[in-house]
Amino acid sequence: MQMNQKLKTAFVFISVLSIVSSLLAQGRPTSRSSVPVSTGIYDSALDSKVESLLRKMTLEEKVGQLVQYSAGQPTGPGTGRTDYNDMIAKGQIGALFNISTAKETNVFQKIAVEKSRLHIPILFGLDVIHGFRTEFPIPLGLASTWDPSLVEKVSRVAAQEASATGVRWTFSPMVDIARDARWGRIAEGAGEDPFLGSAIAAAYVRGYQGQRLDSPDSIAACVKHYVGYGAAEGGRDYNSTEISEHTLRQFYLPPFHAAVNAGSASVMSAFNSINGVPASANPFTLTQVLRTEWGFKGIVDSDWTSVGELIPHGIANDGITAARKAFLAGVDMDMVSSLYHDHLAALVRSGQVPQARLDESVRRVLRVKFALGLFEHPYADETREAEAMLRPESIALARTAAERSFVLLKNSAGPNNTPILPLSNDVRSITLIGPLADDAANMLGSWAGLGKDNDVISLHAALAKHVGEEHLLHVKGPGITGGSDEDMNAAVSAANKTDVTILALGENASEMTGEAASRSNLTLPGRQQELLEKVVATGKPIILILFSGRPLTLPWAFEHVPAVLAAWFPGIQAGPALVRTLYGESSPTGRLVVSWPRSVGQEPLYYNALSTGRPIESGDPKYVSRYLDVPNSPQFPFGFGLSYTSFGYGVTEVSQKQLKASNLNMGLNGTSSKPVLTATAEVTNTGQRPGEEVVQLYVRLQGTSVAQPVRALKGFQRVTLHPGETKKVTFDLGAEAFALWNDHNQFAAEPSKVSIWIAPDSTQGTKAEVEIVP
Ligand code: BGC
Repeated sequence: MQMNQKLKTAFVFISVLSIVSSLLAQGRPTSRSSVPVSTGIYDSALDSKVESLLRKMTLEEKVGQLVQYSAGQPTGPGTGRTDYNDMIAKGQIGALFNISTAKETNVFQKIAVEKSRLHIPILFGLDVIHGFRTEFPIPLGLASTWDPSLVEKVSRVAAQEASATGVRWTFSPMVDIARDARWGRIAEGAGEDPFLGSAIAAAYVRGYQGQRLDSPDSIAACVKHYVGYGAAEGGRDYNSTEISEHTLRQFYLPPFHAAVNAGSASVMSAFNSINGVPASANPFTLTQVLRTEWGFKGIVDSDWTSVGELIPHGIANDGITAARKAFLAGVDMDMVSSLYHDHLAALVRSGQVPQARLDESVRRVLRVKFALGLFEHPYADETREAEAMLRPESIALARTAAERSFVLLKNSAGPNNTPILPLSNDVRSITLIGPLADDAANMLGSWAGLGKDNDVISLHAALAKHVGEEHLLHVKGPGITGGSDEDMNAAVSAANKTDVTILALGENASEMTGEAASRSNLTLPGRQQELLEKVVATGKPIILILFSGRPLTLPWAFEHVPAVLAAWFPGIQAGPALVRTLYGESSPTGRLVVSWPRSVGQEPLYYNALSTGRPIESGDPKYVSRYLDVPNSPQFPFGFGLSYTSFGYGVTEVSQKQLKASNLNMGLNGTSSKPVLTATAEVTNTGQRPGEEVVQLYVRLQGTSVAQPVRALKGFQRVTLHPGETKKVTFDLGAEAFALWNDHNQFAAEPSKVSIWIAPDSTQGTKAEVEIVP
């Protein structure tokens, strides 16, 4: 009877998993996932294997499974330990990371499998963030594609390459909602929106974990950093956060929930504190939400020394207390701080940590190892390793992903009254200037895994190939941060000599973006602004390509430079992708996933904000919410991006004018995703070239128990249109599009006024109105 109930619960859970993950696959409620979700860690066939092994384990061996060290290049403060061989033989290590060749992983694995008493294999992890050897655009760029199926393909390639080395666990995806471009790690995520972020999060998990977690080319995902890390005060990395339960549930938790629903085998607890309680010792988020509400069965891994960091946080005065607090709150595995190794057995012996609680965590780790098939196939096949890397089809995908990640921010008329981009092949004399024009290392972005400079084709190399060396004048000019007057003068005089100048400016990927790389101003570093102004003063047509891990505040550039392309850090195919885009062989389809600020003082800046009681639109000349010296609006809104053609939007129409809250709530409580309303609009290609548009649907709810965002994304889809062609774009919305986290922190629909826009970005579109009645 009990078993039947369990089976039934598992079945319902798995069905919900597949429904939800398929809904999120394309970012719209009715679409299907390309990859069916495997049961993975939820497979009840794993139970008996886990239990029989658990029964054989000593207390020390159990603790060992919860201990993880970095055996290679550190990605945080040092640990002081190096005696891993000995520890593995004694069963004192469950996971190792930061090693990445089959030879290395096999050496450690042999010790675990042959020398440790119970032969439990090691789980090898790595930060495989946007590729393993084939480096794709940084995650912010990947998200800018608004293309979850592409993200899934990218993470599949990353999994194939990583797994060939024995790395079966990635610390990805990072799904932290980021509303503040000062935070360096905005580069690692999918931006500011929970709906898009959820679709992207699930896509990463599907790609990494594949159809079955135990196939040799699948790797376990670790969704991070749970939770609220992106809300670091002042955008300063590792800083504290204050997030109400409502805001946590409505904005910060959904991408994690989507990743868990897609079957993510693990979750990483974050560095930050939330309302005074560190995320790595937070029973509310780690146990109440993750385990009790979401039914998560995988591993919670701490971030790098985040268990030890409970001491500087101020909630523990010694290592044993830190270990106890983190463990009891719900952190299963201790990354690097060594405090579980040092204290967990003693805590269990003294009764401060119940034996049953220890067993629970050990079960989760064993479960993931069994689900990955590590017991059957512990070793990497060294003959498969080289062949798995940089396959031609992976390189082709890197180029496509890069092309689709570019966001065209501005493209105004050049000398002959047509937009400056795409360039005509008749333009045969070009000057290429800037520190990032021929910089392979920076194209790889931060957290570039095993990416190598030699794998990269720079903009300079690709452009020289396209136009011929004899037509290209390349002068680097000042560097990212430094540069002499001579460098400056050489660059400016080169610009004077040709028809068009392309400027490749931006940030240093590893020093200025990613972890521990927050900035208090968002301008171009060094003398690059000066370079830009001097080159613009030549009067020649200028194309500015920005390489950055965040939006940069460049109001002068947006006023004076005719064409600006945000290229993020595009990965190994940076050059070919850019050249194809510059020459119109590929038309930009990327759209912003972060609001692009005019000034750093606007941060945090995000489109899905609440209205104030004195919104600027109310028209009062003084007593409204605004700055004196900068508009409230961003430079470019969330969802924005130009194309080489143009699109016109018809009126937003809805299938009904009234919905019943009670019906919606019945829908929310069941597992059905039946559409409750259809919204449509005609979209026309009004330009001269074929093009692809990302059609977006936004909703606003008014009159609710908790104030709701002025707009919230609830759907998106792509349409391809020939010049002059019109298509009717249809969104089938489920009950969840009309629900909110209410004043009792329940997800429910309420009687309210609903506005719906189908639009090219978060500020445009015509509005349809619907009423939700009781
Ligand atoms: C980062 C994580 C990363 C971990 C392991 C930490 O410093 O915050 O994102 O996964 O190191 O390298």
